[in-house]
Amino acid sequence: MLDINIGDVTAAYEGPVGIIWEMLMGEQIHVGGKQETDILAEIAGVNAGTRVLDVLSGLGGPARHLARTYGATVIGLDATGRMVDEAVARTADEGLGDRITFRLGNALDMPFRSETFDIVWGQDSWCYVTDKDRLIRECSRVAVPGGTIAFTDWIQTGPMSDEEWRSLNTFMLFPYMETLDGYEKLLRRHGFVVRECEDLSGDFASYMHRYRDALTGDLKGRIVELFGTDVFMDVERGIGLWVEAADEGKVGRGRFVGRKQ
Ligand SMILES: C[S@@+](CC[C@H](N)C(=O)[O-])C[C@H]1O[C@@H](n2cnc3c(N)ncnc32)[C@H](O)[C@@H]1O
Repeated sequence: MLDINIGDVTAAYEGPVGIIWEMLMGEQIHVGGKQETDILAEIAGVNAGTRVLDVLSGLGGPARHLARTYGATVIGLDATGRMVDEAVARTADEGLGDRITFRLGNALDMPFRSETFDIVWGQDSWCYVTDKDRLIRECSRVAVPGGTIAFTDWIQTGPMSDEEWRSLNTFMLFPYMETLDGYEKLLRRHGFVVRECEDLSGDFASYMHRYRDALTGDLKGRIVELFGTDVFMDVERGIGLWVEAADEGKVGRGRFVGRKQ
């Protein structure tokens, strides 16, 4: 595991990182935008009144989508003040404040009572968490019996050199990435019956190419203007590494759904 902790990640999200990822992906900061949220919502069975906990909720784009489209009640948990403040403001602007709240906190020690949520949810961000075993244990603790865990995440899908592993994770500020099998084991260990454990890596490389094209095309001028040439070049180099690793089938995404026994 790399020596990256929650302080490194929140410092980055207080700065340019969240802004640049929003420019690349939109306010739902994950691969596939709202279409992916709809797919996960259908599989997980999000309905009117479902109590959802969005773990690592970012700017709250998915939370608002789940409340607006399905009538769910959502709590978002995130450790970065700027992300939570922004999520609260955007949610109030949309008049969804009665159905969505956001809490500042660490997913490894969630500020919620046990057996509170029908669905524990996450999209493309648990890769930031230093201890996935403890994370899944916390998810299990706060889910009601018979409740659902539903998440997507970036995963390691193939062997790579130590140097490559270090460069890819360092750029993203991931302490490490799980594998498909690794997540499946963690889900079983913490009392979930696994309903889905799906490798979504098929289109991951095309998304990486799309992000790099947007970065070096339309977005370049704005990023340089806002954050300077060094930041732009660092991001360009890092995304280049990810494009290469995705093309070679070494990194990808998975979707996981389980039911708490
Ligand atoms: C990519 S963003 C989340 C995107 C969001 N899932 C979405 O789909 O729009 C990653 C977020 O993870 C948060 N984060 C990272 N580690 C965390 C932790 N241990 N506990 C809570 N939040 C964390 C960061 O503050 C950041 O806002």
